[in-house]
Amino acid sequence: MTILALETSCDETSAAVVRDGKILSNTVSSQIELHAQYGGVVPELAAREHLKNLLPVATAALCGAKISADQLDAVAATQGPGLPTALLVGLKAAQAVAFVLRKPFIGINHHEAHLYSPWISGNPPAADFGNFQPNVSLIVSGGHTILVLVESELKHRVLGSTVDDAAGECFDKTGKLMGLAYPAGPEMDRLSGSGNPRAFDFPRPLLHDAGNDFSFSGLKTSVRYFLRDNPALLDDPQKIRDLCASIQAAIVEVLVTKTIRAAKRNGVRCVTASGGVTCNRALRHELALACKKNGFTLHLAEKSLCTDNAAMIGILAERKLAQKIPGTSLDEDIKPGWELA
Ligand code: KG4
Ligand code: ZN
Repeated sequence: MTILALETSCDETSAAVVRDGKILSNTVSSQIELHAQYGGVVPELAAREHLKNLLPVATAALCGAKISADQLDAVAATQGPGLPTALLVGLKAAQAVAFVLRKPFIGINHHEAHLYSPWISGNPPAADFGNFQPNVSLIVSGGHTILVLVESELKHRVLGSTVDDAAGECFDKTGKLMGLAYPAGPEMDRLSGSGNPRAFDFPRPLLHDAGNDFSFSGLKTSVRYFLRDNPALLDDPQKIRDLCASIQAAIVEVLVTKTIRAAKRNGVRCVTASGGVTCNRALRHELALACKKNGFTLHLAEKSLCTDNAAMIGILAERKLAQKIPGTSLDEDIKPGWELA
């Protein structure tokens, strides 16, 4: 089966061609530089960029896969959640292509697709569902922090999510307080490499709370007041590195502790993680250590598949078709608030 998948839920325009579990192409055009000058994603600008970029990106994906449109068996797109006008561009384009080709259309939940991206690996990348194990999956990005119990393929239950800011948002906003450019997460990761994670003691919100929810706004506020009271720290490059490492340590400790605890409680032996923050080296390292200590298998999405991409949309669409799950009507609209259940 050969599928063209489109992803335009936020600030990446992406198209991929997937065939029989293999990713033949995965083209991603990022808008980060455009939004950086505004300090965050501007929804209307994102939608206009998607309109401009979708056709070249989709053409590049088809060319890269050496596939012509008449060889496609189905078309998929992210239906939600995401920015409404951004979602609209990819969804309506995919529905139009499916209509013209008279092929099935599959509308995909963006977060459900993240759940399976850690199972894609290799060169060329392919999904390895033969080794699938029930797992607890951490989806951690600029907009979301979600813990999900994935009982079997396509069967999942949300255990908890953030009650305020997402972990990536906490990186970005605390980084901004230190004068780092948007998105600050990657730069904080880099600076932390030569910083002392024990230099400053920041709160670990909800770490000892019995539930599976997260909260990061208190940590952000704590950093804000700390910097207000100690502004001279920002004049010293080493202190900035120490601050980055200390904030990162607080975020990572909460993410790792709660993920491992959820895995133990739910009796699974496998942990997975995806989403932009999963690129973070400390998070990858600490999750690996904690999983080793507890005898869990760990599947981390490859860095190129952590951030938003159409390949994961195509892989999930193919699984759904293989399991005879009916396609989505061409009359269906975007679902901007379609949270995982
Ligand atoms: O998944 P993603 O590309 O987009 C959405 O938010 O949907 O994630 C972007 C987020 C940003 O908050 C960015 O700062 C964060 O992921 N991020 C990182 C790293 N790379 C990306 N945070 C910490 N360390 C990183 N290496
Ligand atoms: Zn995402």
